[in-house]
Amino acid sequence: MVYAVDEVAANAVDEVTAHAADEVTAHTADEVTDFFADSRLEKLRRRVDKLIKKYQPDDDKYFYVHLYGVSHFCALLALRRGLNPGLAAACGMLHDIHQVKTGEIKHHAVEGATTTEALLKKWQLYTDDEIAVIVTAISRHSRKRDVHGAYDELLKDADVMHHCLYDPSAPVLMKEKARYAGVLAELGYNNKNHKQHPNR
Ligand SMILES: [Fe+2]
Repeated sequence: MVYAVDEVAANAVDEVTAHAADEVTAHTADEVTDFFADSRLEKLRRRVDKLIKKYQPDDDKYFYVHLYGVSHFCALLALRRGLNPGLAAACGMLHDIHQVKTGEIKHHAVEGATTTEALLKKWQLYTDDEIAVIVTAISRHSRKRDVHGAYDELLKDADVMHHCLYDPSAPVLMKEKARYAGVLAELGYNNKNHKQHPNR
């Protein structure tokens, strides 16, 4: 596996700049509709939607909500960190794909990386360097206590954010507490009102 995080991030400067708050250009509704007809992220989402519908027809809400939620947090954190928000959003959409296909959680990160690589090569929406970034981030996303590369950390943080904010009154897992606090602090919030789960 070639880790191309820095190269991909460098190539994404235009996309990041285009989304900076003071650089946003407004478009008409028709222009926006036209954009989505050709958006590779939208194409990716439609393919993931189909997999959820096919493999998890009885429990589809969880996967839609979680994958889209993590994907949105990925984009938000990427903007904050000067990374590529579209590429980050793709990491979020695919990160639990092994769980979608099999229902298994135990090795879903490593197995999901293999599944994702095969899907992305078949779908031909991303370059080989981008696929390497996405696959690497997915393979490492369960290792929440370790520190890896920029996109790996972004995906872990977004996953934790969604676990903790799906119901903000729910207790936080012990293994996610430090990471959650770190992201909230980065975004200028604090988590003093979010209690820790007593048994985990
Ligand atoms: Fe997840």
